[in-house]
Amino acid sequence: ELPERAAIIEVGPRDGLQNEKNFVDTSVKIEFIKKLKKAGFQEMELTSFVSPKWVPQMKDSAEIVASCLDDETRNFVLTPNERGIQRLYETSCKNAAVFVGVSNTFNQKNINKPTADSLSELAPLIKDLKRKGYFVRACISTAFYCPYEGKIDEQDVLAVCEQFESFGVDELSVADTNGMASPLEVYELFSLLKHRLSSTTLLTAHFHDTRGLALANIFAALQAGVNRFDSSAGGLGGCPFAPGATGNVATEDVVYMLHQMGIQTGIQLEPLLEAVDYISDYVSRPVESRQYKLGQMN
Ligand code: HMG
Ligand code: MG
Repeated sequence: ELPERAAIIEVGPRDGLQNEKNFVDTSVKIEFIKKLKKAGFQEMELTSFVSPKWVPQMKDSAEIVASCLDDETRNFVLTPNERGIQRLYETSCKNAAVFVGVSNTFNQKNINKPTADSLSELAPLIKDLKRKGYFVRACISTAFYCPYEGKIDEQDVLAVCEQFESFGVDELSVADTNGMASPLEVYELFSLLKHRLSSTTLLTAHFHDTRGLALANIFAALQAGVNRFDSSAGGLGGCPFAPGATGNVATEDVVYMLHQMGIQTGIQLEPLLEAVDYISDYVSRPVESRQYKLGQMN
């Protein structure tokens, strides 16, 4: 009952770089995105429209969008608020990714307001995006654990997802922000969401690999019927407002695992590893993915 095909949404240029302490030159970001596109990604988060005071790494996001749109890829810009959607309307990008935390404390630290206030700000914005024909993805943070509040109730995650569905989103990306979920919890939450949400809403899983369980969690999500995964080239990433969290699961390790299981992704490992090798010279953290390290040894 595993799918024949799975979609990978590459979030490296956004989640991967947002937590990088040294500013990565705009031209390097653009080259990284170009190299990633050569590997065949059909969906990618390019950058985010957030406050440059909060996340200085993303201060060049308008330039990134202006340089990196194309017709082959569904290119997303991540943003939490009205100002970000206004900025999106000033570009030719037609795919928005909004975000909210299930945990109130996390949402407060990340977006500076309670979860309910973020949802009520986003409701009319999402409806307007949909009226204008945009694709809308909603990213749901702290769906398993919160670095401040601990274990999150499944019913609270479901309630946030149902609200986004009622606003008309196309996709829900449900995240283990700090990489604390175990495969059993993943199987249970995604089974519940698959069962309770509309089958026309795309359901995506977003794992951080803090405790080394991300690949196991992907397998658990596959078994629950999920066939879309966010991942980051090189396993870079993390949210600056989620202390203790490390990078996303590495795209190259996900692609390798899925291909070994006979699940197609449309992504080619060689050019992907070239993109990882390129960006590894510009980030302060060593690339830890298995596929990259194996390639370096040969
Ligand atoms: P605030 O300080 O409450 O905002 O921050 P404000 O409305 O008072 O505005 C403050 C200043 O920011 C103003 O500028 C605004 O114009 C500007 P000033 O007048 O002082 O010059 N501003 C903006 N500028 C550019 N783009 C915008 C924008 N909005 C306001 N969109 C705010 C509230 C939401 C802005 C802030 O908290 C923020 O930017 N947060 C973003 C945090 C972030 O980027 N986190 C990482 C992404 S989420 C994530 O990684 C999780 C995910 O991967 C899934 C998972 O793993 O869980 C998606
Ligand atoms: Mg993330």
